[in-house]
Amino acid sequence: MPTSSATAIAHPNIAFIKYWGNRDNDLRLPMNGSISMNLADLTTRTRVTFDPSFPSDIFDLNGKRQSGDSLSRVVKHLDFIRGLRGFSTHAHVFSENSFPTGAGIASSASAFAALTLAAVGALGLEIPEPNLSRLARRGSGSACRSIPAGITEWRKGRSDLDSFAVTVAAPDYWPLADCIAVVEEGQKKVGSSEGHTTAATSPLQVARVGDSERRLDQCRNAIQKKDFQALAEIIELDSNMMHAVMITSKPPLFYWEPATLNIMQAVQAWRKTGIPAAYTLDAGPNVHVICEVEKVEAIQRRLTALPGVKQIITSSIGGAAHLV
Ligand code: PMV
Repeated sequence: MPTSSATAIAHPNIAFIKYWGNRDNDLRLPMNGSISMNLADLTTRTRVTFDPSFPSDIFDLNGKRQSGDSLSRVVKHLDFIRGLRGFSTHAHVFSENSFPTGAGIASSASAFAALTLAAVGALGLEIPEPNLSRLARRGSGSACRSIPAGITEWRKGRSDLDSFAVTVAAPDYWPLADCIAVVEEGQKKVGSSEGHTTAATSPLQVARVGDSERRLDQCRNAIQKKDFQALAEIIELDSNMMHAVMITSKPPLFYWEPATLNIMQAVQAWRKTGIPAAYTLDAGPNVHVICEVEKVEAIQRRLTALPGVKQIITSSIGGAAHLV
């Protein structure tokens, strides 16, 4: 094949109802469905160039040549996509994030959504959105939710064929924002791929999964009615349930820092005084404070005053992954 290249942009997402634990680790089929919003103001931009003269795949992330696990995971995903049509040409992957990598801001979601779309584009394949979402899922589960626009739901599905994400609300349906209070900027200690494999060791995982359809229903209803109080209650419960599983797994995973808990308590106290804000956490110590866009400045001011908040990254709801 001749040299060919494509560039894609994808947004990370923050889950309202979390994905934690797989029923099939290879296929990345989740134990439960999940719902998230794409983050418009955070982006991963990835260019994939296939060139028959390359002796192997090369991966540059934020200006640094990658090796080890970081490279292997990208090569594995490229192999999977190349294998769809029997291609074997190697690629140069050049990727840049507009936000700190590995700090619980779900960089793997935007990374594998952008890589999937750019690789598929460079190979000249026409693939409909649900199948792109399925492909992205194989790289990182939450990446399937960064393929469609807006607030998206990943249906757990019965098999590989129907486990993908779809839009449940367009980006402009409900002007929500995420104010991310960053308390730690470094790489997280235990990545989510490893965390998914230990989720089942927690005695609480069965209860979390068993109750997930109810939480998904409540979340969908809150979105449909644009009922912020209902959304706040369900997303905080869901985040707490995932972290309860994490801290009771073997080995236990404690992602919180003292500042994390302090922010969570502050957000709950603000809500009691009528300020519509709700917290949710990924696999990291940073606190995502969800609010309506018109409240962003007030929330930013309050977060800045809390101890341990190193920076605040703010985003509204983002669109679909797209080629540029
Ligand atoms: O897609 P992964 O393997 O990075 O898992 C994401 C896990 C959480 O971010 C903690 C939850 C979620 O649903 O995004």
